[in-house]
Amino acid sequence: MIMLGSVPSTNKTAAELIRLSKVQHGAVIVANEQTQGRGQRGRSWHSRPDLDLTFSIVLLPDGLLAEEQFMLSKVAALAVRDTVSFYCAWEVRIKWPNDVLVDRRKVAGILIECELEGDRLRSVVVGIGINVNSSEFDEGLAATSLRMEHGAPLVREQVLDRVLERFEHYHGMLRSGREQLSEAYRQWLWARGRWADLLLDGEAVSGRPMDVDPHGRLLVEFEDGKVAVHGLDRLRFAPR
Ligand code: BTN
Repeated sequence: MIMLGSVPSTNKTAAELIRLSKVQHGAVIVANEQTQGRGQRGRSWHSRPDLDLTFSIVLLPDGLLAEEQFMLSKVAALAVRDTVSFYCAWEVRIKWPNDVLVDRRKVAGILIECELEGDRLRSVVVGIGINVNSSEFDEGLAATSLRMEHGAPLVREQVLDRVLERFEHYHGMLRSGREQLSEAYRQWLWARGRWADLLLDGEAVSGRPMDVDPHGRLLVEFEDGKVAVHGLDRLRFAPR
């Protein structure tokens, strides 16, 4: 475990350490503060120093194919989901691809960045941000924190230990238990089997998320009864 004070982004630090061969598989880089935290789709990720958790797990996967990358997304999302669920009374689900929501409120985000070597993954950085003790969010953000859900402040190190324990649990399923891993992801998929507002190529559509395919694309049933799979390049949940 590498504990840092303030860095631009733990994902960036992790990538640099990988490039310099200064980290091993399983290393965890934690920062008390990120000044340029990165989110999905080029967005930024804001967290509060001393209050929230921002960390990156380094994986040097042995021969995992690039096309199997979404397996790691499932591992990370389930690990965070289990952890959040431990502290919350509400149902905690995974909004495709890997946001973790308490009811409809986002409590954690995951950003996975990979380096490829041919058709294999050479290195993977699994960046995780969890709102632990924050209690104020930008207006209009449907966000929450573990503290707000739990009703009392939490010790960040304990939350981190729990995530890492669950991460190891689900990561072990990559060897023998991929079906079980996928089943767990499907079980906790947010809005599964329910009509949800989506944007397909920018157009508002209604669809029922059912599952993800092996590439991590969402399998959706549309109002005309057709079922299709779409990736993040075309499909997303409509912002609320
Ligand atoms: C998202 O929901 O948009 C993903 C947010 C991911 C944030 C984490 S915090 C630790 C790691 N370092 C970063 O710069 N981003 C990820």
